[in-house]
Amino acid sequence: MSTLSIGHTVDENPAPVHLDARRFNRHTFWCGQSGSGKTYALGVVLEQLLLTTELPLLILDPNADFVRLRETLPTAGKAEADHLAALDIRVFRSGRGAEDAVRVRYLDLLTASKAAVLQMDPVRDADEYNVLLHSEEDTPWFDTDELLRSLRDSGDVTRAQLAKRMENLQVLEWDLWSRGGSSVNDVIDERPSATILDLGGFAHPAEPKVAALAVLEHLWSRREDRQPILVVIDEAHNLCTPEPDTAVERRLTEQLVQIAAEGRKFGIWLFLSTQRPSKIHPNVLSQCDNLGLMRVNAPRDLAELADVFGFAPEALLRQAQGFTQGQALFVGSFITDPTFVQMGSRLTEESGGDVTVPLRQSAR
Ligand SMILES: Nc1ncnc2c1ncn2[C@@H]1O[C@H](COP(=O)(O)OP(=O)(O)OP(=O)(O)O)[C@@H](O)[C@H]1O
Ligand SMILES: [Mg+2]
Repeated sequence: MSTLSIGHTVDENPAPVHLDARRFNRHTFWCGQSGSGKTYALGVVLEQLLLTTELPLLILDPNADFVRLRETLPTAGKAEADHLAALDIRVFRSGRGAEDAVRVRYLDLLTASKAAVLQMDPVRDADEYNVLLHSEEDTPWFDTDELLRSLRDSGDVTRAQLAKRMENLQVLEWDLWSRGGSSVNDVIDERPSATILDLGGFAHPAEPKVAALAVLEHLWSRREDRQPILVVIDEAHNLCTPEPDTAVERRLTEQLVQIAAEGRKFGIWLFLSTQRPSKIHPNVLSQCDNLGLMRVNAPRDLAELADVFGFAPEALLRQAQGFTQGQALFVGSFITDPTFVQMGSRLTEESGGDVTVPLRQSAR
């Protein structure tokens, strides 16, 4: 069976709705305003992909919403619970002291990405850049004490400058570095059923971005292996902005644009979720063949969606203004006809979810 059971049609006689699992060999865009139910609906589809396919998932999870994807709810059927329990689902957390931590090797980054992490330009900062390149040969680790000490004690002005840069940026202190240990890329290379990277707990704002960059860059470098993987990015505007501010953001957007344009034939497929289409680079959006649209109020956003997704009739898109939570329009290659759907229930535990307003006892 290659159909994903995701909910029911929104009409007087609700009928089950299925997506064609085989069409996740295209890029998918998920859109809706805050609270419209994107993350919940994403969970419904990911559960079905796990139950129905052997397509490995890589989930870049900015709010630890998917870290309980292994844990079924009591309402799930026994067969589904048993199936999910038997899958190889790896969860990596971020933040100080996390046990299974999201870690990558600095040395595995491409030179341009290393330079981006250190906010270094190969021309403007030619001397420091050169030292960095060569110091890697002498010091095969990237470790707070050793590296800084060796640079400072060298008696060389440029080396001392590089040490100062690293110290000022506090980049050596990041929890992200594996410091000689293993990298999440080692696990992703094994293609578990799902690898979930919770990116929300890092202390430094650039860390989740560098984590994503390290993983995407690695996938791309091994694209010729043609080992399929679905890269799911919730709140994708964080990683794929059309207006990058930093060198790391620029590298990330470039990498995602490249995957959007060429990843399909290597089996690297994207599944991106965000609130507004304009927050994602247009060259990525225009490569998406599947659209899941939840409530969107802003006419400007709907007009842009109609513009980019020529296969989605504008009159249908406009109805997204009237959607209630959990309603969605599905259009594109993964569904036969454009369909309005009331999403089904999750089978596994949600971790995020809304925070409720504390009410006075008498008002409850
Ligand atoms: N189909 C649904 N059934 C039951 N609860 C739902 C459904 N969809 C959403 N919810 C609940 O509504 C709240 C908001 O949903 P969700 O977090 O998926 O929104 P979102 O579109 O991802 O918002 P944001 O853009 O702010 O992340 C959550 O608490 C979620 O549990
Ligand atoms: Mg969300």
